[in-house]
Amino acid sequence: MITKIIKLNEKKFRIDEIKIAVETIVKGGLVAFPTETVYGLGANVFNAKAIEKIYEVKGRPKDNPFIAHIADKKDVYRLASEIPEKAEGLMKKFWPGPLTLIFKKSKIVPDVTTAGLSTVAIRMPDNKIALALIRESKVPIAAPSANLAGKPSPTSAEHVIHDLYGKIEVIIDAGKTKIGVESTVLDITTDPPTLLRPGGVTLEELGSFLGKVKLHPIVKSEKKIGKVIAKSPGMKYKHYAPEAELTVIKGKTIAVREKIQELANEYKTLGKRVGVMTTSKYDYDADVVKFVGRDLKTIAKNLFKTFREFDKEKVDVIIAESVKTSGMGLAIMNRLKKASGYNIVKT
Ligand code: TXA
Ligand code: MG
Repeated sequence: MITKIIKLNEKKFRIDEIKIAVETIVKGGLVAFPTETVYGLGANVFNAKAIEKIYEVKGRPKDNPFIAHIADKKDVYRLASEIPEKAEGLMKKFWPGPLTLIFKKSKIVPDVTTAGLSTVAIRMPDNKIALALIRESKVPIAAPSANLAGKPSPTSAEHVIHDLYGKIEVIIDAGKTKIGVESTVLDITTDPPTLLRPGGVTLEELGSFLGKVKLHPIVKSEKKIGKVIAKSPGMKYKHYAPEAELTVIKGKTIAVREKIQELANEYKTLGKRVGVMTTSKYDYDADVVKFVGRDLKTIAKNLFKTFREFDKEKVDVIIAESVKTSGMGLAIMNRLKKASGYNIVKT
């Protein structure tokens, strides 16, 4: 398949420039498009065949459902069968934006979209191209992140091209995404609501708006949790992972630096090519040292890109400094935990 790449500027693009992308969605094809979090791989939410193709192309396990992306709040009333009172306020406050809400699903949503669950995930992305694509296609767009299953989510079109070129009809290239980690997934079918995946909207923001938010055990967990209690099916898989084995080091700054250098030296004597990811530009002695950013927002924005850069450098192992778990730090640590397969060392 020849993949068409459409280069656009979110601030000044014309609707006719997305015509091919719109036609592709309408005809049941796949379009990778930018959102404020990461790039999505989209298909018509109601087209079961198109949705099947997303699973195939990504190599995604069939029990992991997709988020329905909408451009108009009215669509919530079509896709969901029950709208809890809290939903209105949440939508008003956080949409468009990086918050995905879980509702009881209505009958019009095909089972493949929700992987057979009785619930549906919905969000309104904060990106003009994404919103225009949804509006012009006249259907909600189901979209997981536009990467191969298990790989880091794409934060630029280059990453999508790397993973999916030749496998999908269209890739819209609008440069780097703003946030860099995926949306926060909040289950509002429970009372209080349950945070299933930390992301672009912080727990603190949700807490001050809702009063009370439950953390799903897996969000807090330091270990892998089994199938039974993994409520968001995606929670149980190794995710976001670079090729190299990743180790995360937690603790006080000086102890962390010492431990990282000690590990780097050990790996080196084993003949491994060592990468270190730092948030402080500390001068580690390793084959590849990458500065991911100092503040949490910058780290979130650069995290997946940095994983992919380490892969390009063909390191065998990556040792990363951890971050605090407040604000965006909760999402960053969640991605580091999963990418490392919970390989976290405390000093
Ligand atoms: O920021 C994002 O959310 C990006 C952009 C493209 O919007 N999308 C994204 O999709 O990250 P994906 O498929 O990579 O992750 C969606 C997560 C998965 O962990 C999935 O299990 C969960 O949402 N999910 C989807 N539907 C669900 C449902 N009905 N109940 C619980 N979790 C659900
Ligand atoms: Mg994903």
